[in-house]
Amino acid sequence: MEKELNPWLAAEARFDQAARLLNLDDGMRKVLASPAREITVHIPVGLDDGRLEVFTGYRVQHSIARGPGKGGIRFAPDVTLDEVRALASWMTWKCAVVNIPFGGAKGGVICDPKLLSNSELERITRRYTAEIIEFIGPEKDVPAPDMNTNEQTMAWIMDTYSMHMRHTVTAIVTGKPLNLGGSRGRPEATGRGCLFVTLQALKLFGIRPEDTRVVIQGFGNVGGMAARLMARAGFKVISIIEWDGALYNKNGIDIEKLMVHRKETGSITDFSEAEPIDPHEAMFLECDVLVPAAKENVITSQNADKVRCKILCEGANGPTTAVADAILAEKRVFVMPDILANAGGVTVSYFEWVQDRQGFFWNEDLVNQRLEEIMINSFQDIVSYANKHKVDNRTAAYMVALDRVAFATKMRGIYA
Ligand SMILES: NC(=O)c1ccc[n+]([C@@H]2O[C@H](COP(=O)([O-])OP(=O)(O)OC[C@H]3O[C@@H](n4cnc5c(N)ncnc54)[C@H](O)[C@@H]3O)[C@@H](O)[C@H]2O)c1
Repeated sequence: MEKELNPWLAAEARFDQAARLLNLDDGMRKVLASPAREITVHIPVGLDDGRLEVFTGYRVQHSIARGPGKGGIRFAPDVTLDEVRALASWMTWKCAVVNIPFGGAKGGVICDPKLLSNSELERITRRYTAEIIEFIGPEKDVPAPDMNTNEQTMAWIMDTYSMHMRHTVTAIVTGKPLNLGGSRGRPEATGRGCLFVTLQALKLFGIRPEDTRVVIQGFGNVGGMAARLMARAGFKVISIIEWDGALYNKNGIDIEKLMVHRKETGSITDFSEAEPIDPHEAMFLECDVLVPAAKENVITSQNADKVRCKILCEGANGPTTAVADAILAEKRVFVMPDILANAGGVTVSYFEWVQDRQGFFWNEDLVNQRLEEIMINSFQDIVSYANKHKVDNRTAAYMVALDRVAFATKMRGIYA
């Protein structure tokens, strides 16, 4: 089980399968399998009580073959180099699936934000940025928020980088506040991307939005936005699952009211317009669309046979283990893999970077329209590739991505 849940081994398993099916030669396999650069920094930070502490941080740049590295920075006590490596490689494949001109990168700092004050977090962020400053930049590697980092963290990184460069460089990070070079539509982008690909999948199944029953795990940025937009599109969101409880209403939960309830009480529980349900069981309700949008490794070899959805829309990164893939395939679940389904976020991050570099900002309709075009084209690329090559959607997504990155690497040639 430990092996099954290791994110780097999971990433490797999918990579190996796609590389084999593509007949990638050994040399190219080695190049694409290895992260190009792994940076480890030990950052001294003065704590509020006067003590000095040292935090360990990483930045892994998996590939810059198709453009600057792109990927979030997470702050969490259990960050490991293996996890950051896996996430960096996923970013390479994700950017290639949606065909945006970025490579893949990821960063993390081992720390527990719950135990740190805002000013301690600011000092960690600034010193981490300063330690990796030669390796990041709008043309080199562009960080973004991830677990426990947010637009404030991005503003600190942007400021630290700008102080070193002696001028304001907004394009150094994405996911910034709107008034500091952020993009309209970015907070909703990942959930909106999930909606766009789900609408395409429903068409293939001939299911009308009003007949679509959805179960969503996670009511945060991705899950909350997906819930809101899917409800607005007429879907029935019959269950929402959070870490402290789950809700069920067969006629569809009123998502706007639930958002107000959560804001007021801090939890989704005790919501009067839906029944409480065991969160472990809710994942396995019969439904048309299941959206795991909380965390990795929730569908494993231990429970995949209990999944009862027609369509799996992976809002989270790595919610399904490689071993569970085969079980879902046997059950004929239509899987929209994370590197496709949640790519709306990085797509609008790309728009943010473009807008920052142009110094000209788009209205929200334009952002959403361009996002829709990219998500629909990517969905069609992957599904038609899967049909043509008789593979499942995840394998198709990896094959398309590897092929695009291998092409760029080959055309550029190996320097020196
Ligand atoms: N935010 C983005 O743009 C983006 C883009 C691509 C992928 N992702 C991925 O999507 C996932 C969610 O990210 P997010 O930005 O929405 O984070 P978030 O912190 O805003 O939301 C996560 C939600 O999941 C809930 N949760 C945590 N553990 C849970 C559990 N065991 N069961 C049910 N709910 C649980 C949390 O309480 C929280 O409400 C992560 O895997 C992230 O890497 C996010």
